[in-house]
Amino acid sequence: MALERTFSIIKPDATARNLTGKVIAKLEDAGLRVVAQKRVKWSKADAEKFYAVHSARPFYNDLVAFMTSGPIVLQVLEGENAIAKNREVMGATDPAKADSGTIRKEFAENIERNSVHGSDSAENAAAEIALCFRLEEIVG
Ligand code: CMP
Repeated sequence: MALERTFSIIKPDATARNLTGKVIAKLEDAGLRVVAQKRVKWSKADAEKFYAVHSARPFYNDLVAFMTSGPIVLQVLEGENAIAKNREVMGATDPAKADSGTIRKEFAENIERNSVHGSDSAENAAAEIALCFRLEEIVG
C-alpha cells in the first residue's frame, strides 16, 4: 500500500452547522491524518478557479455561489491509499445514495450542500493541494 496525500474541503453547509469537529473525527477514525489545514472564505474567483473543470455543467453557478456563501476548511490528508479512503469515508456525492456511516449520509443536506469535497485522483489531489497550500504549510 502507498502512503498518499489527498485534498479535502469541509463545505459551508457543514461549517454553518458547527460540524467541522465531527467531520474531522470521521476522517481521523478512518486512519487519515490532517497534515495541513486552514479555515478561509473563498472569493468568487477562488471558487471559479477551483471548480473550473465543472464550468460547463448546469450546476456550476450555484456551486460557486454555495462555496462562497460561508467559511470552508481546506485540508491535506495523509494516509495509506488516502485518496480512495477519503472518498470511501465521504460517501457518494448525492447523500441519498451514500452508504450508512459515511460523512455525506450522516451530515449532507443534498447533492450540492454535501458537506465535503475530496480529490478523485492522484493527479487532481496534487493539483488541488498545490492550488490551496504552499509546501511549507504542509507538516506531516
Ligand atoms: P464536489 O465533490 O465538491 O464536486 C463538485 C460538486 O458539485 C459536488 O461535490 C457537489 O457539491 C456539486 N453538485 C451540485 N449538483 C451536482 C450534480 N448534479 N452532480 C454532481 N455534483 C453536483
